[in-house]
Amino acid sequence: MTEAWGPDDDEPRPHHGPVKVRVPAKINLHLGVGPLRPDGYHELNTVYHAISLFDELTARRGDTLTLTMEGEGTGDLALDESNLIIRAARALAARGRVPAYARLHLRKSIPLAGGLAGGSADAAATLIACDMLWGLGMSRDELAEVGAQLGSDVPFLLHGGTALGTGHGEAVSPILARPTAWHWVVAIADGGLSTPAVYRELDVLRESSCSPPPLGGPDHLMAALRQRDPEVLGAALGNDLQPAALSLRPQLADVLKAGHEAGAITGIVSGSGPTCVFLAADAGHAQRVAAGLNAAGVCRAAVTARGPQPGARVI
Ligand code: C5P
Repeated sequence: MTEAWGPDDDEPRPHHGPVKVRVPAKINLHLGVGPLRPDGYHELNTVYHAISLFDELTARRGDTLTLTMEGEGTGDLALDESNLIIRAARALAARGRVPAYARLHLRKSIPLAGGLAGGSADAAATLIACDMLWGLGMSRDELAEVGAQLGSDVPFLLHGGTALGTGHGEAVSPILARPTAWHWVVAIADGGLSTPAVYRELDVLRESSCSPPPLGGPDHLMAALRQRDPEVLGAALGNDLQPAALSLRPQLADVLKAGHEAGAITGIVSGSGPTCVFLAADAGHAQRVAAGLNAAGVCRAAVTARGPQPGARVI
């Protein structure tokens, strides 16, 4: 790799110091799941929303590719070639035709297998960090193309905000609404749920006609977002995967009930679960709902969060 660029030109250059990237978790305000496709994915119509629960990835120069981790559930994560961070670094290096050399360190707060796209978030953070470390200067769209091969939610986590997701979730277009801060309570569960298992369970429920009719498109949700009223937004939230997550983890019904009793406007399972998210009217209301959920003892921890947030960014 050459580092011969002059100080005044605009060419991206390899970065010597550590590159630290912060990446948010995502929830789905609307998750409409269509039929199973021949490639094993389901066609989606979703509205993604990035919230203020963050992982932090630091990339330093190195002679090989190494990864260390600390925080939420990282003891359960393999550090080998199956790890999404390692796969993201290798995929980017191949695309940029550079050696995949970096020392990566992850500080994790987004729970694993929680329905908050924790794995995809880390892959997105890796793409942003290594792009800068290696001086590749790729656009966010180019990075999203690499990311889409790694996980359906990676392109959204590069962009952040509130956005429409189609295809299997990888085709993202931002929703241009007047900025509104939404207040959430995130009820983190003990243990995760496997995303493929939840999608499979939905197929089983649909085959036996045991699930509600599919939500379809997000028009109702989009109209509700424009009204900027939490009560209206709360009534429009929807998740086709919720019955499947509840079928695999019936205790989630107790979490949803406890959130309702704690005064939340509404609550839904986040993505494929088992995390549940609750909408609140303002920051104080969110604090009270979180306190009520924590007192009820139905989840490992309930924390407040705000959305929308920007996607993976160098800090
Ligand atoms: O893309 P991601 O790695 O997050 O997907 C994990 C699994 O979830 C897929 O292999 C598939 O079984 C399921 N999935 C799906 N339809 C989608 C997204 C994911 O069936 N749109």
